[in-house]
Formats: sequence, C-alpha cells, structure tokens
Amino acid sequence: MELDAALIDRLRQARLVVILTGAGASAESGIPTFRDRQTGLWQKFDAMELATPGAFQADPSLVWGWYEWRRAAVLRAQPNAAHVAIAEMAERVPHLTLITQNVDDLHERAGSKAVLHLHGELALPYCGGCRRRHVFPAVSASTMTPAEGARIDPPRCQACGALIRPGVVWFGEPLPRAVWQSARDAAGRADVFFCIGTSSMVQPAASLTELAIDAGAATVLINPNPTAMDDKVAFAYRETAATILPQLLSATWPRLA
Ligand code: OAD
Repeated sequence: MELDAALIDRLRQARLVVILTGAGASAESGIPTFRDRQTGLWQKFDAMELATPGAFQADPSLVWGWYEWRRAAVLRAQPNAAHVAIAEMAERVPHLTLITQNVDDLHERAGSKAVLHLHGELALPYCGGCRRRHVFPAVSASTMTPAEGARIDPPRCQACGALIRPGVVWFGEPLPRAVWQSARDAAGRADVFFCIGTSSMVQPAASLTELAIDAGAATVLINPNPTAMDDKVAFAYRETAATILPQLLSATWPRLA
C-alpha cells in the first residue's frame, strides 16, 4: 500500500493528533465488532435485548451474563499492532488525544494514557441506584469462563442494595459529559484526525470526524470495508488497522521506528 507523502508531511508537522477508534481497532485482537456481516455481535444478538436500560430492567441476569462473557473475552485478548502503533505515535508527536468507542482496555494495555472512553468501560461497573463504583474481584482469564448466553445474577451494591450495572453506555443514554466535551474540544483543534475501525453509524461519536473535517484537520480513515465517511475524508485507506498503522509510523518517523 502506497502511503501519501502529503499525509506523512502533515503528521510530521502536527502539534495535535487526534485518533478516534471503534470496534475494528480491536478486531485483530479477536474481539468481535458489532456490525461486520458475518461476525458482528449485532448479527447474532439483539441490541435492544442487551444494550438498553430497559433490557437490564427486564432481564438483569441475561444482560449481566452477556457483559461478563464479553469481559472474559477481553481478559483473554492481547493488544494488537494497531494498539501498539497508536501508543507509539503518542511518543512521536507533541500532543495526541485518543478517543475510543471501545469498552475494552486494549489501548491502555498497549501503553496509551488518558484514553477518552466515549461508551464507558467493561471493567468499571457501577451501582444502578446510587452510581457508586463497583470493584470486580481480581480474576484471571483462565478462571473466568462464562458461557455465551449464560445468565449471571449481577451483584448488589454494598451501600444501597441496588443492582450493579455494566459500566458501558447503552442505547438511549447520554455519553459521559466531561469525556464528550474533551473529545469535541480535541476534534475541533486537531491538525491530523484519524477515524479507525468504526462504521461511523453511531452518533454522536461519528460526528467527531465531521467536526474535525469542518475545522480543517487532515482526516484519515482506516477501514477494510467501505463506510459513509470514505468520500468525506482527505485520506482513506481500505486496510486493516494492524496492517497500515505500523507502516505509517515507520514511514513517517523512519529513523525512530
Ligand atoms: P462497528 O461494528 O459498527 O464497526 C466496526 C468497523 O470496523 C466496521 O466498519 C468494519 O469494517 C471495521 N473493521 C473490521 N475489522 C477491522 C480491522 N481489522 N481494522 C480496521 N477496521 C476494521 O463498530 P463501532 O463503529 O465501534 O456501542 O460501533 C459503534 C458503537 O456501536 C459501539 O461502541 C457499540 C455499538 O453498538 C455501544 O455498545 C454503546
């Protein structure tokens, strides 16, 4: 894949690089995306039965079990070359803001700091009543093996007795306000903005790319499949994230790579 010289120039000169990732960034770690045709979670599961406040109210054990199954998959997974390249890019540019829609911790495990999790985190459940944080008991990947579809009763809050809920943002819920504000601020000031591994179908996250385009950033899209954003960005690479990001890193900073 030929990388654009103009993009390499913009990256070398950038003061602020902003990266928005979606499920595709974790795909090569073996974590399924939501909307890929054969393998996407929303092909197999009904989002309205699992990822809404009403779903949790109707069947808390089904919902808690599903998120425990996903948390176990993340525990077993390892960051891939895309996560590593993003963490390394942060070392090469003056400022880098990483925004993710992902609820896994693979960016952090690759070394990224201060990641803005727009849709929450699997590892940070909280009380559905008083919103106090719940700390999971330490588990290892080998001991945590909930079966797909297993019902698991959620724990109860030690302070108020209400059910603990997954630490993710569900459909119909607002994004965490401060996280969203920081993400918008960064997107509006970016010199280079990457949109990586997202279908750009979920708002308001997808609007960040448009905000960056309108604000004059050099916008870069990385996705092996076509999306509605392809024609709007300056540079579109139809490649997987783990393939192209390491190439881009070593082409931009050859002596350091
Ligand atoms: P999607 O499943 O909608 O999109 C994933 C995108 O990643 C698709 O466009 C794929 O083509 C692309 N992709 C697949 N493999 C890739 C790879 N190896 N490298 C790069 N790209 C790859 O996931 P998101 O856009 O993240 O929300 O979905 C947004 C939100 O919808 C999620 O955060 C989740 C979901 O419902 C909540 O759970 C609140």
